[in-house]
Amino acid sequence: MKALILVGGFGTRLRPLTLHVPKPLVEFANKPMILHQIEALKAIGVTEVILAISYQPEETEPLGTAGPLALARDKLIDGSGEPFFVLNSDVICEYPLQEMIEFHKSHGGEASIMVTKVDEPSKYGVVVMQENSGKVEKFVEKPKMFVSNKINAGIYLLNPSVLDRIKLKPTSIEKEIFPKIAADEQLYAMVLPGFWMDIGQPKDYITGLRLYLGSLQRKSPSNLATGSNIVGNVLVEESAVVGDGCLIGPDVAIGPGCVVESGVRLSNCTLMRGVRIKMHACISSSIIGWHSTVGRWARVENMTILGEDVYVRDEVYTNGGIVLPHKEISFNILKPEIVM
Ligand code: GDD
Ligand code: MG
Repeated sequence: MKALILVGGFGTRLRPLTLHVPKPLVEFANKPMILHQIEALKAIGVTEVILAISYQPEETEPLGTAGPLALARDKLIDGSGEPFFVLNSDVICEYPLQEMIEFHKSHGGEASIMVTKVDEPSKYGVVVMQENSGKVEKFVEKPKMFVSNKINAGIYLLNPSVLDRIKLKPTSIEKEIFPKIAADEQLYAMVLPGFWMDIGQPKDYITGLRLYLGSLQRKSPSNLATGSNIVGNVLVEESAVVGDGCLIGPDVAIGPGCVVESGVRLSNCTLMRGVRIKMHACISSSIIGWHSTVGRWARVENMTILGEDVYVRDEVYTNGGIVLPHKEISFNILKPEIVM
């Protein structure tokens, strides 16, 4: 079985993390985002994953979310007539892909999508479906008015015939293709069991980490850190060092090679590879980019996002600062703002 992961786009909403690294390679819970998906695909027997990368030699202009399928047509069709998976690269969940295969077989339509319920549907693709059969009656991308609270989770299983509906030009699968398949009564939606989050924005990334670690706690708790200085669900890469007298958690991921000195307080945050947190610093609801340093007694909070190799001086306070790579911060950031 084959799969295609949409890894193009600019990742603007996750800047400054995406200034150096494409969004799908930004680590989430100590693994590049797309690795979570590739592992899930492999686990159900997918043997070939095509990465649709925007702005690469074969794609001179962004082809949107459907155009890349036309570009990869020959790679996706192998004569077996089997359906293939298409995934957005920035969605995190328990990937019940085997269940999706069963669902797809059971309804016999051309395309299956996973849907999930959210409180704020307007920033997603919204789906109106028949409760029993799952048949999609309407698919509306980012509607201005409330349509339904069930949204497209960005995981599709498509018959090869769907490719006949897509031309090799910039095309949105959500705006141009799904509404037509739905109108032909060939689009079916399966309600995704378990958690789901699009982690393409800082706030959702941090929420997603909480949900992901909660799921890990239920499924494979031995992967989580334990000890008297750990609160709730915490992931510590084995090469990271955590000093004495720290209090870590809940919902923290500490990446490879990180050094957390003594007396540090961490909650709801991610430290990317090679980060150093000096003594008695306190970090909450923030993402600390690769190889950054946070000084002694510094306080970093409220969706502060540090790009790669940022240096926050001792005793500095940052409240929601978005800090570009290679900056040194020697002043307090009192309200959320971008520091260039
Ligand atoms: N190859 C390629 N080319 N990939 C692209 C392009 C492109 O031009 N544009 C976007 N992508 C990829 C992104 O990398 C991402 O994996 C996926 O397509 C979706 O793009 P996003 O920019 O993350 O879209 P969104 O989050 O606003 O909305 C999409 O995801 C929601 C769920 O998270 C839509 O599919 C919504 O319907 C859906 O609800
Ligand atoms: Mg997204």
